[in-house]
Parts: sequence; C-alpha cells; structure tokens
Amino acid sequence: MQNKFLGLTPPMGWNSWNTFTHAINEDLIKETADAMASSGLKDAGYEYVVIDDCWSLRQRDQDGFLVPDPEKFPHGMKAVADYVHEKGLKFGMYSCDGTHTCAGYPGSFEHEFQDAATFAAWGVDYLKYDNCYKPRHMDGEMLYKRMSLALRNCGRDILFSACNWGSDDVWSWIQGSGAQLFRSTGDIQDSWESIKNLALSQMDKMAYSGPFCHNDIDMLVVGMHGGSNNEFIGSVKGGCTDEEYRTHFSLWAMMNSPLMIGCDIRKMSEYTKETLCNPDLIAINQDIECRGPYVVPGHDPAALMALVKPMSDGSLAIGLFNLGDRKAEMSLQFWDMGIPAAAGVGLEMYDCWAHQTEGTFTERYAAQIEPHGCRVFRAKLVKVR
Ligand code: GLA
Repeated sequence: MQNKFLGLTPPMGWNSWNTFTHAINEDLIKETADAMASSGLKDAGYEYVVIDDCWSLRQRDQDGFLVPDPEKFPHGMKAVADYVHEKGLKFGMYSCDGTHTCAGYPGSFEHEFQDAATFAAWGVDYLKYDNCYKPRHMDGEMLYKRMSLALRNCGRDILFSACNWGSDDVWSWIQGSGAQLFRSTGDIQDSWESIKNLALSQMDKMAYSGPFCHNDIDMLVVGMHGGSNNEFIGSVKGGCTDEEYRTHFSLWAMMNSPLMIGCDIRKMSEYTKETLCNPDLIAINQDIECRGPYVVPGHDPAALMALVKPMSDGSLAIGLFNLGDRKAEMSLQFWDMGIPAAAGVGLEMYDCWAHQTEGTFTERYAAQIEPHGCRVFRAKLVKVR
C-alpha cells in the first residue's frame, strides 16, 4: 500500500443499498456524487461514493471477468469512477467472498486476485466484501485474508470493508487480515428498534475497534424516513423521527462506526443535512486515536446509557442516551470517569448539538433526556480551585 493513512479513522461516505438496493445506475451515482460535492457533505468530510450489490451481469465473461450490467452502467465502471474522482471524491464497489453475492450476482470466490486487479483497473478506492454463498468447506477468516492480500497487492490503495455481519468471532481475527472495517452486525432497518439493537449489540466489542480497523455497525438510515425500495429495510414502517435519527448519528459517531449515509442525498431535507454535517459529532468520530467508548456503570444501558470516549486532546466525549420510552433524568458522577472530587477539577461541558458551552460542572452532571433522545458533550477538564 502506498497510503500509510488509508483507513486510519472511520471512512465517511454514501452507499447505494439502504435506499436503492437493486435500482442503481450510472445517472444515480453521478447525481449522488454531484450532490455530495455541492451540498456541503464533501466539505464536512464525506468522501466515498459506494455502489453496493446488483451492479454486474449474472455471469462472468468467458475469461472469468466480472461484467458491469450494460443497461445500468452503459459506459462501464471506469467512466463512473472517473466522474466521481473529478468531483474530488472516492469511488467504492461491492463483491462477496462466496460464489454469489447476497442478491445472486457473481461473487469473488476463487477469483479474488483477478477481481482485485479488475477493481484496481477501474479506479476503485473502497471494496465492501460480503459473506453470502460461501462454500461450506471454506473458512470465512481465510477468505477475508485472501481478498485483503489481493487488494493490498493490486497496485492501488483500496480500503477493504469486510462485511461478515459479526460471524466467526470476526473481532478476534480481523486485525490480522488487514481489513480496515469489519461489519459486526446484521443489516440495519429504518426503525428505532433496529438502531437501538445494533448499538447495544456492540457495547462489549468496543475494545476491539481502533485505528485502521474499525467496527462497522452498518450504514446509516439517517434521513430515510421510510424511503427504501426494500420492505425489509423499512419502506412499510415509515422510518424514524428526525430526533431518533440524531440519536442514531450520535451513537454511530461515539462508537467510531464508519459514517456511510444511506438516504437519497439528492433530496435530503435541511434538517437531515444538518444532522449529517454536525462538525462536533464528526470530530468525535474522526478523533485520530479512535478509542472505543466505555459504558459508565449505574444505569441499565438498554434504557439509559452513558458513553465516554477519551479524545486525543485530553478532553472527553460524553454521550447520554435515553434508549427507553419514557423521559428520564440521567446523571453522571465524575468520579466514575476518573475525576475524584479532591482533584479540584471540573468539566466544561460543550453541547455538541446546541453548539454552545452549557457551563462548568463539578462532581456531577444531570439532565432530563427525552425518550429516544440524547445529549452529546465535549467535556474539557478545567481547574476549579
Ligand atoms: C448483505 C449486506 C448488506 C447489503 C446486501 C446486498 O445483506 O449485509 O449490507 O450489502 O447484502 O445484497
């Protein structure tokens, strides 16, 4: 690899799956790249435009090469990659470690090195690699190691986004594979229940995530409001409230998940854009040390959860999440975060959604949190006497 910083912090971008699933084409990808560049998302840090499943023909060609569907991508993938690159963005694609992708298109099993070379020739910068139709005699760990090696030797920097949904104890071996991401969960749905369950499922895995190898809790559903063309993802359920999407974004940011947008950014509302572009949340997510947060004891996390993440400048990112269905008071005792009362140190609490400092507090902080709501702070340690 040439770029020693590839995947240092969690990648940020957009992925076609959550909203469009099979209904993808060249125009959609170009318009999405346009929107990313013109809407402010690019300036906020989003850079990858990723095409998920369903981009190829159902068969490889006679020499075993993957073939883009000429109806969806009439000018081939290189043309799409060039367009995305001209916008100052990066281009991502999708394949699978099995014989077929999850939607039944050709997978990269036994074609790993050939496909890595193809992706490099097309100008791909990011590969999401799924886990469907893996032959039973094959070990998933080995298949991810294969593709990772193929990518790391294909002559182009391609970020490797492993997507095996947390199976095979992925956290225990993924560092050694060389992948920059590991999907740790099943597929997200555009519903509050799904957001809550995915976040809670990874609380005991935060210690396995770090620079260059991040726990991927799945792509964002922020701003979808039921807009998927896929019933499982949630078009029938109507999605979430804007407030719930903010809590979702706050959780993913605090948990160092990649921030891969799943809504149609050509049509997003101002509120959605503000949510996705919150510079204070993005700064927490992109902190260079990538330390996973810990849960502060004292509450039942399934209802009230306090997350604390040490930041590289010495401050603490603090998230107070009300995952329950009733308004509730949450309190944080500072000695639970390593600040004894005798230290003479308080916390200057900057509210990352209100974008203002709430004040300096000593010993404890308490706030009323709306159901499914949150407060996120950047807390600076200050001398109080
Ligand atoms: C799996 C993945 C999803 C998506 C689909 C595509 O379900 O987990 O994120 O890539 O496959 O078929």
